[in-house]
Amino acid sequence: MAQTDTTDRGNWNSRIGFVLAAAGSAVGLGNIWRFPTEVASNGGGAFLLIYLICCFAIGFPVMVAELSIGRKTERNPVGAFKALSSNKFYPLIGFWGVLCGVMILSFYTVVAGWTFSYVFEEIFFFAGLDSWATYFAEVSNGVKNGIFSTIFMGATVSIILGGVSDGIERATKFMMPVLIGILMIMIGYVAFQPGAATGFAEYLKPDFSQISAPLIFSAMGQAFFSLSLGMGALITYGSYLSKKENVPEAAAFVTLADVGIAFLAGLLIMPAMYMAESFGVNIFSESGELLASSDLIFQVLPALFHSLNTTAGIIFGVSFFLLLSMAALTSTISLLEVPTSYVIDEYNVKRKKAAITIGAGILIISLIISFDISLIGSIDFIFSKVGLPLGGFLICYFLGYVWTVKNALEELEHGYPGLDSSIFKAVWPIFIKFLAPLAILYNLLEAIGFISY
Ligand code: PHE
Repeated sequence: MAQTDTTDRGNWNSRIGFVLAAAGSAVGLGNIWRFPTEVASNGGGAFLLIYLICCFAIGFPVMVAELSIGRKTERNPVGAFKALSSNKFYPLIGFWGVLCGVMILSFYTVVAGWTFSYVFEEIFFFAGLDSWATYFAEVSNGVKNGIFSTIFMGATVSIILGGVSDGIERATKFMMPVLIGILMIMIGYVAFQPGAATGFAEYLKPDFSQISAPLIFSAMGQAFFSLSLGMGALITYGSYLSKKENVPEAAAFVTLADVGIAFLAGLLIMPAMYMAESFGVNIFSESGELLASSDLIFQVLPALFHSLNTTAGIIFGVSFFLLLSMAALTSTISLLEVPTSYVIDEYNVKRKKAAITIGAGILIISLIISFDISLIGSIDFIFSKVGLPLGGFLICYFLGYVWTVKNALEELEHGYPGLDSSIFKAVWPIFIKFLAPLAILYNLLEAIGFISY
């Protein structure tokens, strides 16, 4: 890869390389595990609608903001704020991001470990419901859980050791189209099964009466999580970006790819959920609530694969979980790259030492989680649902009122010759200075309100 000897920083090999890596960061468990679960527990179509609005009206503008800060400063999230202002307070935005990244990675590694372990489940536990239904309980608890988390963290660290671009570019280029292909084929299959129509209706017909403060709060958190925003992952990726890249265009592509894959995952899993009972898998409580968040992809999808004939089931099941593991890997890489680049830049540590030490530190938290997966809920709440939008709010504020939109637009002009006469230039500043930060702040305050009673 194009790495310079003196700085140990990286650079993307090619234009498409960056877009693929950023899309690789965005597309992951957030789209296929977290999104359908949020949809299913938050009123289906109403959630989808608010989620889409959050992605395009808040997520996309914040993504451009992060990338422009990163490319301008060529620094990690903490260093970037130091470089753009002498005020000591602003680098704290970057610190908060690093902390959120570390904590998100700690539970993400555990869930990614399950995903990878399911590749084997699909091969060895195909015999019948009894043989695999207990599998999840076993693999998500204790030592087995710890082993798979360790494997996953090992894979993440070993890629980070080589620098950011090698591997990610190639893996993503191949993985995304195949993942989309599998999703489409499975959607086609599910669509004609009994119960599917209920699932589609639930997903695609918004029931406006379901829109509530908690729903909007969850949708906003999901948008930040899924687009990898609010913690500086895209400041970091932007810092390796060439001045020739058209940033708003790249951000639009990443947003569309990410939203598109989440949407497809919903189209598969919502109908499948209603078929699950006919497979003998019970995922609803007596009052109709979803029993557990991991049920959808670790119970319902295997049920679906196992309902095919054995050969087809193994082929689809194994490829699905393998691809999902790879999608998770391109996300864990971006999560680990944030604290790693921070330590490399700010403390002059070599990449190898930084990646191994930080990876090992985070793995300790993952191992604790392995023995008590109920911790995932609270960590996710503090560092994803509240933490990422909070980071996004601070980034909007910093860009709009400290660094200023004028300077940001000057940076964005590189690689975007038509910027001056574009709609983007007319609209983006309004979103960054007013609409996005106000919407985020309002939702976060509302959240404090509904949490307290
Ligand atoms: N966007 C990733 C996903 O959807 C998760 C992630 C969050 C990655 C924050 C980087 C930063 O799986």
